[in-house]
Amino acid sequence: MASEPLVSIENLTVQFRTDRGWATATESVSFDIGDGDCLGVVGESGSGKSVTALSILRLHARGTSRFNSGTIRYDGRDLLRASERDMRAIRGRDIAMVFQDPMSSLNPVLTICDQISETLMLHRGLSRIEARKRAIELLDLVRIADAARRVDEYPHRFSGGMRQRVMIAIAIACRPRLLIADEPTTALDVTIQAQILELLRDLRTELNMAVMLISHDLGVIAEFARRVVVMYAGRVVEDAPVDVLFRKAMHPYTEGLMASMPALDGPVRRLYSIPGRIPDINEQVAGCRFSPRCGHAEAVCLTAMPDLVPVSPDHRVRCAPRTRTTGAG
Ligand SMILES: Nc1ncnc2c1ncn2[C@@H]1O[C@H](COP(=O)(O)OP(=O)(O)O)[C@@H](O)[C@H]1O
Ligand SMILES: [Mg+2]
Repeated sequence: MASEPLVSIENLTVQFRTDRGWATATESVSFDIGDGDCLGVVGESGSGKSVTALSILRLHARGTSRFNSGTIRYDGRDLLRASERDMRAIRGRDIAMVFQDPMSSLNPVLTICDQISETLMLHRGLSRIEARKRAIELLDLVRIADAARRVDEYPHRFSGGMRQRVMIAIAIACRPRLLIADEPTTALDVTIQAQILELLRDLRTELNMAVMLISHDLGVIAEFARRVVVMYAGRVVEDAPVDVLFRKAMHPYTEGLMASMPALDGPVRRLYSIPGRIPDINEQVAGCRFSPRCGHAEAVCLTAMPDLVPVSPDHRVRCAPRTRTTGAG
C-alpha cells in the first residue's frame, strides 16, 4: 500500500483471565486498514474477530483482560498506550462501531432523537435544537422514510432492520474515519441483510470513511469487501484482496470456508462443513492450530505454528507446506 494506512495493527496479543489462568484469545495479529478502505474480517465463531475489533477501541474489561504485546497505530498515536481521556474522544468521533444485536443496543426509554443527539452534543457540542435537526438528516442518510416524524418515536416502533439503521446513524453521526461493523446483519433476515450491506457500502463512498466489516459468513464478506483478512483461533491465517482470495486462496482453512459457502446458482446440495471444531482458548494445540482439522497436514504442521509470510506484495498466508512449495517471490 503506497500511502500510510489509517489504522495499523501490529503483533496484537490479547489475553483473558480464566479459571485456568491467563488464556490467549488473539496472538500476534497484524493487519492494516487503509483510509477509505473496505476491509472484511472473516472466520468461524471464536476466531478472535470481535476481540481484535474491541481492542481498536480498547473496550475490553480491565482486570480480566490484558494486551500482552502489540501496537495499534492511528493518527500518529498508539491506541493501546493512549490515555483514557484520548480514547473517550476517539470513540464515536474518529472510530465508531455497530454491533450484532440492534434489539438490545438501543435504550427503550429514550426516543431515537435523544439517542442520536447524545453523541452529537457530547462530541460536537451541538445544542439540543441543532442536534435534533442533525438527527433528522442522519435518519434520512440511512434511508429511514418520514424521518422528521420518526425521530420522536421510541425504539419499540422500529423493526430489527430499522433499528440497525438507527445504530448506523448514531455510529456515523460524528463522521468517523473508520466504522467497525461487527456481524451487523447476523441477527437479521436475508433480505434485510442485503439492504444493510448496501447501505454500508453507499455510506462508505458518500462519507469517504473506511469500513471494517466482520462476519463469520464469507458470502457476506465477498459481496462487500475489497480486501479480506481470514482469522482462525486467534491468528490471521490469510490476508488478500477479495478477487485474489477467490482465485487462489492458499490456506486450507480459507479453502474450507469457501467450500462451505452455498452456491447461489448451483444445484441444491448438502452443504460442506469443515470437520471438527475451533479450539477453545484454553486448549493447547501443538504446531499449527488448524492442523487437527486440516486434510493437508504434514509432519511439519504438528511441530511449529507457521509464520504469516507474503506470497506476493498484497497476499500473506500462514501455511508452512504451501508457502514452502510456492516460494515467497
Ligand atoms: N471476555 C472474555 N473472557 C474470556 N474469553 C473471551 C472473552 N472474550 C472473548 N473470549 C474468547 O476469545 C476467543 C475469541 O473470541 P471472539 O473474538 O469473540 O471471537 P469471534 O468474534 O471471532 O467469534 C474465543 O475463544 C472466546 O471464547
Ligand atoms: Mg464476534
